Parts: sequence; structure tokens; C-alpha cells
Amino acid sequence: MTRLPFSIRGTADVTELHPRTGDATRSEHAPAAPGSMNRLVVISNRVPLPGIGPRAGGLAVALDGLMEKRGGLWFGWSGTVSSTATDRPVQVTTAGTVDYATVDLTPEEHDRYYNGFSNGVLWPLLHSMPDLIQYDRTDAQIYRDVNTRLAAQVAPLIGPDDLIWVHDYHLLPLPAALRACGVANPIGFFLHIPFAAPEILEAAPDMGDLVTHLLEADLVGFQTEGDMANFAAAATLLAGAVRLPGNTLSVNGRRVLLGVFPVEIHAQEFAGQAEANARKLPVVRLRQSLPGQTLILGLDRLDPTKGLLQRIAGLRRLLETQPEWKRRITLLQVAAISRKEVGSYRALRAALDRESGNLNADFGEPDWLPLRLISHGVDRATAAGFMRTARVGLVTPLRDGMNLVAKEFVAAQNPADPGVLILSRFAGAAQQLDAALLVNPHDADAMAEALTTALTMSLAERQDRWQALYNAIEHRSPLGWGRMFLAQLLRGAVRRGRFEHNDEPVRAYAEA
Ligand code: F6P
Repeated sequence: MTRLPFSIRGTADVTELHPRTGDATRSEHAPAAPGSMNRLVVISNRVPLPGIGPRAGGLAVALDGLMEKRGGLWFGWSGTVSSTATDRPVQVTTAGTVDYATVDLTPEEHDRYYNGFSNGVLWPLLHSMPDLIQYDRTDAQIYRDVNTRLAAQVAPLIGPDDLIWVHDYHLLPLPAALRACGVANPIGFFLHIPFAAPEILEAAPDMGDLVTHLLEADLVGFQTEGDMANFAAAATLLAGAVRLPGNTLSVNGRRVLLGVFPVEIHAQEFAGQAEANARKLPVVRLRQSLPGQTLILGLDRLDPTKGLLQRIAGLRRLLETQPEWKRRITLLQVAAISRKEVGSYRALRAALDRESGNLNADFGEPDWLPLRLISHGVDRATAAGFMRTARVGLVTPLRDGMNLVAKEFVAAQNPADPGVLILSRFAGAAQQLDAALLVNPHDADAMAEALTTALTMSLAERQDRWQALYNAIEHRSPLGWGRMFLAQLLRGAVRRGRFEHNDEPVRAYAEA
């Protein structure tokens, strides 16, 4: 098995952070002094291997910059499925300061761990959509087995002073699997998606065990207070944890800290990208194809949580009740194909094709259609340009951990003539972006009303709302988010005496 050289000693780089945003007080782009930090080991199902182009999705957006800046080891699935996966050693590729260590999955593992249990059970369950789960006991077993295998393969790569950060629902039992391999390092876990109430979780018989295994981490982070509260309730009800003051749980004599760390984007950087791309050909062509029309934009993966059918129902209700909008608006809905081997995703694709066809047939004219539905993804730069061109951003998931598209839509706007964000109350982003038009996506009339309000909103109100939204995201960044989490993880480790290098600045920050 490949072993990596370790050059890691000392304390983490957490001494100069803004206590609320996690931003560094010195330049973010100044490289950290080599050897001044504990090495970071990130473990996630997807690994954005160098050379495969930018990866869409919240996890990559959140972590790419942090890893590039901080360096470390990123371990997970290679994205390849091969029948010899379990016989092959870990593959290591180095790019800059990051070592990417990956393993393949066998076809059965991919089918059962990734499609069957992660995306067929945990994804809908944690999004509070238990009616969509397709539970199979063998899938659950193989999910646990893959986590055990991943732990055994990464354990020899972990050095004594490394900080370990595990990500997302594919890897809930990994903290316990790592401990079983003798890994005593501080382990943090961040859940990018929501966490459901215990009575919903109980639809999958394994949830008590999974929560127990996750509680082998030292710090468990969530996107919102609601997710953290649901997890604390599940930990007490299903895993026998006891709540202590200060978001702490006691489990078998160990303390586990919980925390809320909303994922952020780099707003200024995205604004620059949007401005530059608004002048490029794909955006110019889009605008030219919409003479005299206002663009309403939706950008999502094709996923049952995203509320795509409800969005079409809202547009239908608008056109039924206010036909004067005919010919004056177009909804461009990107619904990028995703997880197409999972039954609920295939069913959604069929339903979406049917509903969009019906809408266009019922309301369309020879020279105008209300909806353009596109099932392939759009690269992030072009998406940024589209967002700047749109008058209305429709981000209306039925449930969402955060939804970075909502934050990106805000960042992409022209401050002099900004578009309006219509945002689901059930997206984590609604906690911060409460100056958006907040809607319940299940209520087609409310969706139609929000569309009317957005389409007729005065410039002054658009500017006021946009400014409030931008203020909520401007001084935050993915780097700050990562630093906040890691600082918290390190503080716990220092408190437990796990690291000898317990110097003053770390403690000063910990107590701020
Ligand atoms: O946290 C959700 C997430 O893992 C994001 O990284 C991304 O939006 C999406 O799901 C990617 O899904 P998949 O890895 O199944 O393609």
C-alpha cells in the first residue's frame, strides 16, 4: 500500500481568525508556513481529482479552495467502478500541496453502497422524504462494509498529528470504523445535507447504529440549528447519548461537540465571474433568444428534493390566473441528470418530461414557450453569467441542506439592476437569506404570487433586498467556513490534551 511521507508537527493555523466569519485577518492568499499546521486529512465519497475539470456540487465548492490553500491529504472514491476494486491498492496523485488518495468501487458496491443505501435511503430520509426510500437490508450491510474497507485503506496513511475531517452521508459509520482501526486522532464530521427528526429516521432500521457510529467523532457539524437539534434528539433517543450544556453530548463517558457551520461561497469572486461571463457568447445568445421577455432561472441537479415539479406547478398557476404574462416570461430550468440508476430519480425524470411537455402544450404559442427544460449541466462560469442575466432566480427545494445556488444568485447580480431571489423556506440558505421572497414550494398559489411580486418589483425594492442579501454573504468564504470548523476541532483536541503543542494563540482564539 502507498505510504505518504509525513512532515507535520505543531499546531493548526487557527490563531488569526475572525470569530464569526472564520476569515483570516491576514491575507487569505499568503501561503501557510510549511510545518506550522497539523496536516488535514479530508475523507469524502467524491474526490475532485486533478485534471477532470471543475466538479459541480456543494462539497467540491466548499472544500476545493481550503485544500488548495492548506494542503493535505484528500481520500475517497476515485469515481471508477471496477470488478477488481477490492484487490487494488490506494492510488495517490499529487497536485500542488494536495495528495489525492483514491480507491475504486466494485459494481456491487457502487450499486448498493452508493445508489442503494446512500442515495436510495439516506438521501431521501435525511431530507425528510421517507416515502421515497427503497430499503434493502443487503444494501445497508454493503454500505457498512464499504465504510469498513475505506477506513482500513486510509488508516495507514494517517500520521499521528493529523486532523481528520469526514464529509457527508455516505460515510456516517466511518468515525467508528476508523477508531476500530486504532485511529486516535481528532475526527470531525460535517453533514452537507439536512438531518431529519428521529421519528422520520426510524423508517430505516439502521439509523440508531449509524448515529452511534457517527458519535465516535469528536465534532459533528451541521448547516443549520434545526439540523443540529434533530441530530441531538436522535442521538439521545436512538443512541443513548446524554445532552450536556453547550451543544455537547456525553456518550459512553466521551464528549462529542455539535456545531452549526453554514457552508459559504466566495461572493466577490463569483460576482467577478458573473460579470465577465455575462458578456460571453452562451449568455449573449441566451439573451438574444428572448426578445421582449423576462428570464426566470432555475439551476438544479435533477433530484426529488429540488421541488422541480412544484416549480412547474407554480408557473402553471401563474399562467392560469394571470394570462397577461404569456409571451412576456420564460423559465429556463436546468435540471442536470444525476444518480440516474436510482429509481426515484428515473421516475422524476419521466414526471418532469411529462409535466413540462403538458405545460408547454397547454400554454405555448407557435413562437413562444413558457418553459425551456435542459437536462445537461451548465459549467459554473456560464451559470454565473446566466444568473446575472436573469430577473428572477427560482431556488425552491422541498428540503435542502444549504443550497449554494441561492448564494451564488445573489453574488451574481448587478447591484445597479439586481434580480430577485425566490427562495424556499425549507432551504438551509433561508436562515441567512431572509431578505429573499421566501415561499412554501408546495403552495402553487404562493409560488405564483411570489413570481408576480418578483416580476413587478420596483428597482428601489430590488436594490434594497439585494443589498441586505449581499450583506449576509459578502464577508464570508469557504475558506473561513473550513477554518471555523477546524479551529473548533483543534480546540477540542487541545482541551483533551491530545496535542502537546498547546500554545497561547490557539487558546486565546478558543476562548474568544
Ligand atoms: O452534499 C450533497 C452532495 O454530495 C454535493 O456535493 C453535490 O451537490 C451532490 O451531492 C453530488 O452528488 P453525487 O456525488 O451523488 O453526484
